[in-house]
Amino acid sequence: MKKTTILDIMKMKKEGTKFPVLTAYDYSMAKILDEAGIPLILIGDSAGMVFAGNENTLTVTLDEMRYHTRAVSKGSKNAFIVTDMPFLSYQVSIEDAKRNAGFLVQDGAEAVKLEGGTSIADTIKAIVDMGVPVMGHIGLTPQSIHAMGGYKIQGREKKQRKRLIDDARTVEDAGAFSIVLEGIPADLAKEITEKLSIQTIGIGAGPHCDGQVLVIHDVLGLYDNIKPKFVKRYVDLKKAISSAVNEYIDDVKRGRFPSKEHSF
Ligand code: KIV
Repeated sequence: MKKTTILDIMKMKKEGTKFPVLTAYDYSMAKILDEAGIPLILIGDSAGMVFAGNENTLTVTLDEMRYHTRAVSKGSKNAFIVTDMPFLSYQVSIEDAKRNAGFLVQDGAEAVKLEGGTSIADTIKAIVDMGVPVMGHIGLTPQSIHAMGGYKIQGREKKQRKRLIDDARTVEDAGAFSIVLEGIPADLAKEITEKLSIQTIGIGAGPHCDGQVLVIHDVLGLYDNIKPKFVKRYVDLKKAISSAVNEYIDDVKRGRFPSKEHSF
């Protein structure tokens, strides 16, 4: 397998090759995904929910994202690594945003992801200008949960739809190499995908995006606090882990473990 670069990702849009993306937050999971051939690993700030157990992503800190980035980048040889810039790490000033993006790159990120459209275009441009690729993220943007009044599908009304199309264009014009479209109607995602020359990566945005992203804990059945309609669970690891742990408990209690073969 060969290392995925930003050039490969941009080429896939031209060739019409669909693009799978998964999140990871730690070394072991990154190694599994990388060896399985995932071309892009996103270190999402969803870590705050599925890894740290918080209700939303707002409390995630830059230091926490730096820690996850160092762990994931050690586990990944070939996947392109993108790290989410957490809330407050890029909204306060462009200077902050540039410095914080730089820290994430020093930790192993090859690109950073920022939520927002027109309002953060200058920030995207400034980060791109310093040589750091940027992935945009519009639609349902979890860091704006309070402004949206909850995790709600965006772009259903005409005005909002137009705003999202403008946002997508602005993010592309600011220099982003790809953009996540989250929680928007499938026909809107299709329209945006057709209008842009950068990769659109959908989550809860239907089948017409250039790529798809899911949170790894959802794919593997490891997180069931919420189960969005758009998630496809490929395996129930919670069940498999529970059954393994029960077996271990039983073995220890009954003196079956450790046996001779596990002893010195
Ligand atoms: O934080 C995250 O994992 C994300 C993806 C779900 C797009 O932003």
